[in-house]
Amino acid sequence: MAVKYCMNSVFSCDGIQAVRELEESSIHLILSDIPYGIGVDEWDVLHSNTNSALLGTSPAQIRAGAVFRRRGKPLNGWSEADRRIPAEYQRWCESFAGEWLRILKPGASALVFAGRRLSHRCIVAFENAGFTFKDSLAWLRQSAPHRAQRISMVFQRRRDEANAEKWDGWRIGNLRPTFEPILWFVKPYAIGTTIADNVLAYAVGAFNEQAFTRYEKVPDNVLRSGFAKGEGGWHVAQKPVKLLQSLIELTTIPGQLVLDPFCGSGSTLVAAKLTGRAYMGFEVDAEAVKIARERLAPDVFEVNGI
Ligand SMILES: C[S@@+](CC[C@H](N)C(=O)[O-])C[C@H]1O[C@@H](n2cnc3c(N)ncnc32)[C@H](O)[C@@H]1O
Repeated sequence: MAVKYCMNSVFSCDGIQAVRELEESSIHLILSDIPYGIGVDEWDVLHSNTNSALLGTSPAQIRAGAVFRRRGKPLNGWSEADRRIPAEYQRWCESFAGEWLRILKPGASALVFAGRRLSHRCIVAFENAGFTFKDSLAWLRQSAPHRAQRISMVFQRRRDEANAEKWDGWRIGNLRPTFEPILWFVKPYAIGTTIADNVLAYAVGAFNEQAFTRYEKVPDNVLRSGFAKGEGGWHVAQKPVKLLQSLIELTTIPGQLVLDPFCGSGSTLVAAKLTGRAYMGFEVDAEAVKIARERLAPDVFEVNGI
């Protein structure tokens, strides 16, 4: 491990660059909620399209309240620049996928939260880098905002009563987004060895169903762990610690090293600490780093009882 990056710490840095400085085959698990590239916030804009609507707020959005505060890119590709966004996201994933492969131990997992719309680009980038795409898990969220606009309202505003009636019940947009994909990749173990030998050599490669079912009733690939009371509010894209604990216990044993190169408010690191794993987090946003450090401070652990 590079001396610069010691264990059980959160570093204020570019996680793509920092990973390049880590030792080969030194990490037991990468668990990360990477930017989805859908423009949910400034850090999530990973393309060169500078259309003025990006992240803006229209009067209709203001009237609709909190759910509509920000506008990402149009879904359907209203311009050439919009249509280039998925390929640009893939190139962004490619900029670190190979390095993730290098630093993981053979047989180790990379568990990646990726948005529904662009996750396929992440999968291709990781496969091209040499990962095996093992499975796509689904995390069922406790709640999700339904952003689909009623098209009849648009016709009503145009005073087009006939079409408002004809299209009553129809919406523009998507069904309620209640699941998020968690992509499960593994670094292939050496050709000529077996998975059992790999487990003996590197202590990764199998999964712990027994530990996992302490969090989820059944060992299915649909996960339902949610936020504990009062847990939210640290980050706009925060994930539940219990969910992350279940994934860490699924793939690692106590004492092993979990890395999150895009750690946000440190939820993965808190989960690693709670499960007795070593952790390391990288994050570019100074405020998020401060929050992560606060969440990981020993006295906070005791106060919150987590
Ligand atoms: C989806 S959020 C993670 C939120 C996290 N799951 C939590 O519970 O707090 C992704 C994070 O990646 C950070 N980020 C974006 N690009 C980065 C980079 N190049 N290096 C490090 N962090 C980056 C963003 O600032 C953001 O906080």
